[in-house]
Amino acid sequence: MPIELLTQKKGPKISKYIYGQFSEHLGHGIYGGIYVGKDSDIPNVNGLRSDVVNALKKIHVPVLRWPGGLFADTYHWKDGIGPKAGRKKIVNTNWGDVTEDNSFGTHEYFELLRQLGADAYINANIGSGTVQEMAEWVEYMTMAGESPMANLRRQNGRQDPWKLKFFGIGNESWGGGGNMRPEYYSDVYRQYQTFLPQYDKEHPIYKVACGPNEDDYNWTDTVMKYAGKYLDGLSLHYYTLPTGIWHQGEKGDATDFPEEQWWSTIAHAKHMDELITKHSTIMDRYDPDHHVDLIVDEWGTWYNVTKGTNPGFLQQQNTIRDAMVASIILNIFHRHADRVHMANIAQMINVLQSMILTKGDQMIKTPTYYVFDMYQKHMDAELVEGVGNVPEHVTYTASQKNGQLTISITNYDLTTKQAVDFTAADAYQRIEAATILTADKMDAHNTFADPNIVHEAPFKGATLTNGKLHLKLPPKSVVTITLKY
Ligand code: AHR
Repeated sequence: MPIELLTQKKGPKISKYIYGQFSEHLGHGIYGGIYVGKDSDIPNVNGLRSDVVNALKKIHVPVLRWPGGLFADTYHWKDGIGPKAGRKKIVNTNWGDVTEDNSFGTHEYFELLRQLGADAYINANIGSGTVQEMAEWVEYMTMAGESPMANLRRQNGRQDPWKLKFFGIGNESWGGGGNMRPEYYSDVYRQYQTFLPQYDKEHPIYKVACGPNEDDYNWTDTVMKYAGKYLDGLSLHYYTLPTGIWHQGEKGDATDFPEEQWWSTIAHAKHMDELITKHSTIMDRYDPDHHVDLIVDEWGTWYNVTKGTNPGFLQQQNTIRDAMVASIILNIFHRHADRVHMANIAQMINVLQSMILTKGDQMIKTPTYYVFDMYQKHMDAELVEGVGNVPEHVTYTASQKNGQLTISITNYDLTTKQAVDFTAADAYQRIEAATILTADKMDAHNTFADPNIVHEAPFKGATLTNGKLHLKLPPKSVVTITLKY
């Protein structure tokens, strides 16, 4: 029996922000990975490497979270403004105790957003900063008229205020962000948000509170209870580990892993569904009309670091298994589009489940990059529900926008091909586009020597006959197909 897509039933909008990214001052997430400085031999515009920016522009990064992560709660923004020679050199105590020269700061971040066409999501320092420091940063960024911080911004070369779309108050405040109890954090959040200046009354800054780690339901309950009416979004952090063990060296390797870890990784990725469902149910108790969104601002795979690299840099390879994880989780976000407004995969470049890996002046796109590329048509599209049985080890999502129906379907079986049929209430007439990402080996990945082992290709396994779409899916594959009415 085909899966019937209910194209005439109104579904929620899949926010484009679900395709958000995260870049922290961590390893080569910023330095070397995207910021090389104006004097670098690597071609760049205002210090930002052009190869990486151009690759990212193709996937239309909608929003970029910065400067952390854990780094955010040690970051003092005034260290990162003004003439570079005078910027304070500090120690990045969270990530390898390396020297942070603050050459990438607020101005460089907004320049990156300008080049990418992305919106801002800044995480404040509430762990080791002050309310005044946060308020002044927002004044520096967003005050249009005359004020001490707006004048300082102008002195540093920026006349107009920037647009600050999202603002996080606390990162992992239950752990490295301050080891707070949820009751205490709720009060800290309430205090900080009170002094968050909103100069642009027409576009108020969207406030994100620190939400739970994984299945800490008590955190969600308590923060919603005490602070729920003061926030726009509540964050959730959940990483996919093959073994589920956080210990150094015991997470599982990114490549050359046993079959059993293919399956455990898939199972852990699927767990995102349960987490969102349960946190959302708790949020419903305090917010039945869904005024508060869930913001999954850290997600992705986390493996043992690549051998021979600095353990504090969280550098890892990215295989076709990561592509499966990305598609499984993006499909889950789509299913929860009525609650999940933004998600930020960790992290955009060179860190954890990245889009891009760099080495000197070289750059490779990862399998995860290609999933983000293939899924673009779902951004801001309307979710389409489907009814009918889905074969084992297959997951799909569908959406419609501008007279086009886009279906993304993943067969995460290691060896078995699958055939899947779809029909839709509306008659669609032709296949507009069809692409596939697949590989022979379960740890297939791109390398600097061979950057094209895993890449997107035209998909030939689709036929559309009398309104029925028939797909033949190879094992370990993600397919996106767009139909036109
Ligand atoms: O993404 C890496 C780290 O994971 C972040 O800094 C932190 O928030 C989380 O523990």
